[in-house]
Amino acid sequence: MKPILITGGRVIDPSQNFDETADLLIKDGIIEKVEKGIKPPSGAEVIDADGLVVTPGLIDIHVHLRDPGQEYKEDIKSGTRAAAAGGFTAVAAMANTSPVGDDPSMIRYVLDAAAGASARVYPIGALTKGLEGKEMAELGRMKKAGAVAFSDDGKPVSSGTMMRNALQYSSGISAPVIAHEEEPTLAAGGMMHEGSVSSLLGLKGMPAAAEEAMLARDLMIFKITGGRLHIAHVSTAGSVELLRRARAEGLPVTSEVTPHHLLITDRLVKNSGYSTSTKVNPPLRTEQDRQALWEGLLDGTIDAIASDHAPHHTDDKDMEYDFAPFGIAGLETTLPLMLDEVKSGRVKNFTLPMLIEKLSSAPARIFNLPGGTLQAGSPADLTIIDPERTFIINPDTWQSKSRNTPFGGRRLMGAPVYTILGGKITMEEGVPTE
Ligand code: DOR
Repeated sequence: MKPILITGGRVIDPSQNFDETADLLIKDGIIEKVEKGIKPPSGAEVIDADGLVVTPGLIDIHVHLRDPGQEYKEDIKSGTRAAAAGGFTAVAAMANTSPVGDDPSMIRYVLDAAAGASARVYPIGALTKGLEGKEMAELGRMKKAGAVAFSDDGKPVSSGTMMRNALQYSSGISAPVIAHEEEPTLAAGGMMHEGSVSSLLGLKGMPAAAEEAMLARDLMIFKITGGRLHIAHVSTAGSVELLRRARAEGLPVTSEVTPHHLLITDRLVKNSGYSTSTKVNPPLRTEQDRQALWEGLLDGTIDAIASDHAPHHTDDKDMEYDFAPFGIAGLETTLPLMLDEVKSGRVKNFTLPMLIEKLSSAPARIFNLPGGTLQAGSPADLTIIDPERTFIINPDTWQSKSRNTPFGGRRLMGAPVYTILGGKITMEEGVPTE
């Protein structure tokens, strides 16, 4: 493996509070050093990063790879190529596959299929067998097989006792539980956020209270169990407030927010003419919720940004709104969308180091993953970003098999230009190398 020397970039490593112009040398797949004026070793590939930003490899802790069972939507190969194209070196994959990822053999399947892929894949095991909420899955054995966290994401855990037992058990094996917060009877049959837009459109709504009631329940349970609780895709102002209060009380709850909940609202369901690309769960909320999510992200209440990459086939989304599946694909849009927010200055105090922290060191910390750092001696997982690059979202050019995005055609400023995984270039100029 050739050494790689990256010269003259702005190196941002939030894990070490580092933000300086420097060179970075990779040898044998490991970060050897970050310094000014490193001489290229013989035979090294040199990447001139003048004007570019060098960061730890980005980690997306919430993706659906659909493999096994729905490979017509995505598979591990296409999903990890999409990750590399989007600037990610690692993804955590949800268990709502077919069969469900609820036993050690399924965890091993994902890890085997991901060997040599364009990004590291960390499997998330199901919390309950078949995601049915009735019987706890074999968390300990899945953890031993390589699961990094547990979740029934896509489905809420209805039983409070099940959530209590799962949190209690998972605390013994030091693995986080990821909660998809939705009180199922309140959200039943809903297609979008319940509010003035859903009333106008005549679509059944999912009230903010469905998320907030379940989150409140889980926070109460968490107080008596301990362990680690991570909240997936926070979407309402009330949820941000509940999390803020829980953190002020010292509860170690963590959470993530998606780019779509930060950037668009339920108005787009109407303005897009009911485009099913806006159908997602939790649903796009109101402008007030959107503002509150930014506040939560900026004050540290919300720890991480994750895509909730939910790929669907065009034929599946090409339905009436009521019948289309929920989900927005995000691996190839998350970083450019967020870079554009930084560049535009639309959100006061949202800086590039903060964005990188929410996509690298924070996700690594939450799930206790290797990576998320440029410390010497770490595996050389890196992302190189051009913050001045014009980027137009064009799903037709995606590596993902899916095309479902409400952001198609957006013209943005900022894009990843290299992704490096274990010292190997996996993406150059937007194109995966394998
Ligand atoms: O919109 C969503 N799609 N939300 C989820 O929770 C699941 C996901 C999927 O698997 O498609």
